[in-house]
Order: sequence, then structure tokens, then C-alpha cells
Amino acid sequence: MLGIKILGTGGYQPQKKVVNEDFTSFVDTSDEWIRTRTGMVERFVSNGEPTWYMGSMAAKQAIEAAGISPDDIGVIIDTSVSPDYYTPSMSCMVQREIKAFNAMTIDVNCACAGCVYAIDMAKRYLQSDENMKYALVVANENLTKITDYTDRSTCVLFGDGAAAAVIERADNSLYSSFLGADGTGAKYLFARSIPPANAFMTGEGHVDDGFPESNSHYLYQDGREVYKFATKALPNALTKAAEKINFDLNDLDVIIPHQANVRIIETAAKNLGISMDKFVINLDKHANTSSASIPIALDEAVRSGRIKRGDKVGLVGFGAGLTFGAIIFEF
Ligand code: ACO
Repeated sequence: MLGIKILGTGGYQPQKKVVNEDFTSFVDTSDEWIRTRTGMVERFVSNGEPTWYMGSMAAKQAIEAAGISPDDIGVIIDTSVSPDYYTPSMSCMVQREIKAFNAMTIDVNCACAGCVYAIDMAKRYLQSDENMKYALVVANENLTKITDYTDRSTCVLFGDGAAAAVIERADNSLYSSFLGADGTGAKYLFARSIPPANAFMTGEGHVDDGFPESNSHYLYQDGREVYKFATKALPNALTKAAEKINFDLNDLDVIIPHQANVRIIETAAKNLGISMDKFVINLDKHANTSSASIPIALDEAVRSGRIKRGDKVGLVGFGAGLTFGAIIFEF
């Protein structure tokens, strides 16, 4: 089987840390509610660092850990739901900063499943182009700039940060993926861009997207609907990825799920019949950083020695779109 080898990982956390108690001065909430309903305790928030900067710092660390030259990176795949610009892409900004001038650049918008999608895309590029040595996956998020700090049901959930991984192809290595989406659930989790506007508009072309009314660019979430989706999507994606290669999920050494809510992970673990000990949880320290949450946890697990060479690892994400996806590979 053709798989991947993650040669090096990196991460970046903004300097500013916010604890649960900090929210109580402007919304009706408590440390106890946030801890018991989500498992979150603290999170890092941008103190002015733009998205591309966080991604670039993580990428530099991953390149150093991999011991490669930026010149040998063939593709940069960057994931974000909170980029700095409509254009240029975050991958171009990262390419500029890390001087990987031989790399083509792609941005991926798959919300919290973004990193799983990006790693699978990287694998497919490496598989189909023998001349490509390395792929760089970067996940960078500045969610707090699209967070509504008057809405207690969402503002406590999000943090900022970035992580990256240098990937090469690996012959005869365990690999499977299962990726999917359900666009009918798009209205449950969204952040609007600017609406159509031009000098000639009369308004007659207005099309109702079926989303709840909102004039802002802030993240809107129907927490209960997303919760129901997430508790099914997480075990389903992992199971489908395993079935494709007749793999027993009990043989995974480590599972890194998207860090949205510890109760979602506990429910999924119970449904899968897999011990919580195998799940990496760091949402108590980072909260939900969307597409960056899985690679931040991966980077921490690698650096702390929790993941070792040869370990069988599962990554599983779910989020806005609604998107979902899982990868099983050997580290
Ligand atoms: N502090 C205190 N009370 C609160 C808070 C808060 N911060 N937020 C909501 N509440 C209240 C609600 O108003 C409600 O009060 P009411 O009963 O008087 O109406 C009560 O708490 C219960 O609200 P629920 O929404 O039922 O709370 P729940 O236990 O479902 O937890 C949560 C909410 C944490 C959002 C949960 O639904 C969840 O985790 N959903 C999934 C999130 C997710 O997976 N997102 C996906 C990825 S994000 C992305 O893609 C960017």
C-alpha cells in the first residue's frame, strides 16, 4: 500500500491566553458551565498576529523538524476558514514567508475537517507525481476575528493557532482515508462573506440561501444540530476508512479527533468501543481552533513522545459544510 511519512511537524500559538473566567465580564457564563459542557479551560487568541503569520511560523518549525530544504517542497496546501484576504491565498503568503519558491500553492476550505482533507490531497499529489519530493500541509486559524463576543453560546468555544506537517510518500505503508460532506447541513454552521454589491444592482436577483438571517460576518452555529451530526460523523468516518482496508480500529495506537467538545469525543469513543486513553485531547488548553485543531494536537503528541515511529494513527475531523473525514496511517 502506498502511504505517507510525516517527516516533521510544527506549531504556533499566539502569546495571549484567555481563561474561561475572562468571559464572565462581558457575557452571562461561568467557568463551571464552559468546563462541564465543553471540557475547555483556556485558549490562545491572536494579539494581532495575522493568519498567514501563524501558519508560516508553524511551517518553519515543521521544515526544521523534517530537516529538509524549502526548495524541495512541491506543494503547499493551506487550510483555513479565517484567512487574511479573499486573494492572495494563505498558501501563497506562507510560500513567500518560508521561501519555498518551487512549490505550487493550494488553499482548502473544509472547516474543521480541513487538515484531514489536506493530508489526503497531499498523499494523492505525492502518489501521482514522482518528481514531487515533499508536500507541506499548513493549517492556520484566526477564528476569534469572526467570533461574536456578544453570543455566549459560541464566543467561549474558539481559539487561534496554527500547525504544519512536512509529508513524503512511503511505500508499503498503512494508509486509508474516507472523506465526505453533507451540504444540506450548511445552514447549521456558517460565517457570511460580504453579500453581492455593485454599482448596477437593483436587488431583483436576490436569492434566499435558506440560512438564518444575519447581517454580520460572525460565526453562527446551531450547537445542538452540529452536536448531533458530530457524534455520528466522527465514528462513521473512522469506521468507513478502516473498512476500506479491512483494518480493526482497535489496532490504532492513537486517535486524534477534532477538538470541538470533549463530550462529542466521549460519545464517539463509547460508540466505537475504544478506550478514551487512545484519544488525544488538548481542547482544555486550546479550545476549538477549527482546521488547526488536529495538527496542533498531532504536533504536541509528536513532540511529547506520545506518538512514536511505527504507531498506527487515526485522524478524524468534522465541521462546517458540513464536512467530515478520517485518515488512518502509520507514523
Ligand atoms: N454559558 C452559560 N450558559 C450557556 C452558554 C454559556 N457559554 N452557552 C449556552 N448556554 C445556555 C443556553 O442558552 C441554554 O440555556 P437555556 O436552556 O436557558 O436555553 C443552555 O445553556 C443549554 O444550551 P445548549 O445549546 O443545549 O448546550 P449544549 O449542552 O448543547 O452545549 C455546545 C452547547 C457546547 C455548543 C454544544 O452544542 C456543542 O459542542 N456543539 C457542537 C460544536 C461543534 O462540534 N462544532 C463543530 C466544529 S466548529 C467549526 O466548524 C468552526
